[in-house]
Amino acid sequence: MIEMECLTKKFGNITAVSEVSLKVARGDIFGLVGPDGAGKTTLLRMACGLINPTSGHVTLFGGEKDAGNFGYMPQRFSLCGDLTVMENIDFFGSLYNINKKTIRERADQILKLTKLAQFKKRFADDLSGGMKQKLALTCALVIRPGLLILDEPTFGVDPEFRKEFWKILYMLNRDGMTIFVSTPYMDEAGLCKKVALLDRGRIVAAGTPDQLKKQIKNKILEIKADAKDLDFLGDLPEVEDASFYGDRYHVAVNEVEPAKISIARLLSEKGITVSIMEEITPSMEDVFVSLTEKEVV
Ligand SMILES: Nc1ncnc2c1ncn2[C@@H]1O[C@H](COP(=O)(O)OP(=O)(O)OP(=O)(O)O)[C@@H](O)[C@H]1O
Ligand SMILES: [Mg+2]
Repeated sequence: MIEMECLTKKFGNITAVSEVSLKVARGDIFGLVGPDGAGKTTLLRMACGLINPTSGHVTLFGGEKDAGNFGYMPQRFSLCGDLTVMENIDFFGSLYNINKKTIRERADQILKLTKLAQFKKRFADDLSGGMKQKLALTCALVIRPGLLILDEPTFGVDPEFRKEFWKILYMLNRDGMTIFVSTPYMDEAGLCKKVALLDRGRIVAAGTPDQLKKQIKNKILEIKADAKDLDFLGDLPEVEDASFYGDRYHVAVNEVEPAKISIARLLSEKGITVSIMEEITPSMEDVFVSLTEKEVV
């Protein structure tokens, strides 16, 4: 569906995207995952043909003309705040020369899916953040695309809305839509069929979430203790890296048993009680930290 060959984009002396080659196949939910400034928006804009690469090629739909439409939901989607939900959809559809009757029919279906049907007459300005994102998605879907490209569609939206949004993406995918989505959230990376991790313009790893988890050489210990800051564990020779996740620490180690012994010793010296210390399957966060040596969202 999308083929990118050695794509590079420079803005003056900033290289936003550097030699990226990726293939998004028909039926994929392909996640482009990376922190702020990684180059996600720039890469998606090149995929859509909105900006030209400095070098490299993008091919959509195998280069066939009229092979299918694609929908694009930009990061900063500009809805018209003083138009209602339905008026926004009408306006968007009319930009694509779709007749009113067809827009209405499609909108009815999509609004059911996005659960916005009862808000048709509400002004876009009066929608919650999550509902605005869903309206932006509804607009992108009015053209019935075979390929949907979304740039951080769930950024800043509460966890319930994020879950619901992903459910919708899954439903669309089940009905045959190929999805290429960017996100800074590692938990969302785990929801994709395939993932590419982008860091400072470069792909650091790509594959299915399971393949990526197998790529990291370290073992991960999860630790829960009655102290908030365990960063000092990173100073132990047995520990490669220590990062904080919510209420627990993930510690990357080479060998589990010797690390457990020296961590337990150090914590007990400091009078810290440990309630959990066990090896776990790496999460996508662990994969990203291990491949980029960076903290994540
Ligand atoms: N039009 C532009 N002119 C100059 N620099 C740009 C331009 N667009 C992006 N950049 C720079 O390119 C780099 C990548 O930016 P980009 O917006 O693609 O990242 P991103 O991964 O989408 O980040 P975010 O998560 O914050 O949206 C950044 O350093 C950014 O400042
Ligand atoms: Mg962006």
